[in-house]
Amino acid sequence: MNDSIERIQNEARSEISSAPNREELERLRVHYVGKKGVLTSLLHQLKDLPADKRKAMGALLNDVKTEFENVLRLRQSELSRKAIEEELAKAPALDLSLSGQYSSAVGSLHPVTRVMEQFIQIMKRIGFSVATGPEVELDYYNFEALNTPEHHPARDMQDTFYIEPPILLRSHTSPVQIRTMKNKRPPLQLIAPGKVYRSDYDMTHVPMFHQIEGLMVDKHISFADLKGVLHYLVKGLFGARPLRFRPSYFPFTEPSAEVDMQCISCKGSGRDCRICKSTGWLEIGGCGMVHPNVFRAVGYDPDEISGFAFGMGMERIAMLKYGIDDIRSFFENDLRMLEQFSC
Ligand code: DAH
Repeated sequence: MNDSIERIQNEARSEISSAPNREELERLRVHYVGKKGVLTSLLHQLKDLPADKRKAMGALLNDVKTEFENVLRLRQSELSRKAIEEELAKAPALDLSLSGQYSSAVGSLHPVTRVMEQFIQIMKRIGFSVATGPEVELDYYNFEALNTPEHHPARDMQDTFYIEPPILLRSHTSPVQIRTMKNKRPPLQLIAPGKVYRSDYDMTHVPMFHQIEGLMVDKHISFADLKGVLHYLVKGLFGARPLRFRPSYFPFTEPSAEVDMQCISCKGSGRDCRICKSTGWLEIGGCGMVHPNVFRAVGYDPDEISGFAFGMGMERIAMLKYGIDDIRSFFENDLRMLEQFSC
């Protein structure tokens, strides 16, 4: 039996290690170590051996079986590697520099964000710093301290979202004036950018929009300072343009004015101009000299100091800058619209 085992071993080693492919290797596996294979039938014959030889022969057959399995595994991995190499040799060369089928688009800033950032940069150049305040605000900061007590008719100018009185969503960025002045002493030179909320919805109004508030307080601040700053701002945003200050009313400023910029489309002629509705002017915000009652509310002495304030809607500025006529298109997330402003 020993002789025949050695013969089988030699045969198997050479057959397995030269098996030309995976099918042939599988056939050899079944032949040598399969359930009805050569080794299994030798193991079955063990019972016919005398007891003293049985043990040694059993151990030998098991060693042989382990060896066969190892040789089979080795050939299996050689054949797999060979198959991969052949596959690669067949395939056309892989061009790694070829761009993919789908490219991921690089995002860009929203047009309103771009305008706000530009606005902030311009104001920083002339010494204004940025202040912020909460979007969920108290009636006191949004109205009361801004000289707009309960039942004041000016409250009707803003369609306020109340959460639960006295808590509301701020209807403008002006409450940041109060919050900042309560914490700091003059001189002050700040802008307050942010979201504001009103219950409005049409071509020029949405329930959430962005404003930037401006505030400058010191001794001897005059309306001339306000005009100078706004001219500088408009020059940065649109290029130098004539401005017009139209008397108006806000509870927190006195005197108050609406700021109009000469129309960028018809250059003020008003001839058949859709943009300015043939008036030659475009309204860009509200402004005025801070009302003495506002100073009193924050503990400043209105006889000692003075200041100006202004507020502008960023969507309005972006609409004028980019020629957009429906404010809602900013928020519909239609890439065909937004991509026109990416850069
Ligand atoms: N808060 C005003 C609004 O939202 C805008 C405004 C007007 C702000 C005049 C000011 C100002 O600071 O002085 O309608």
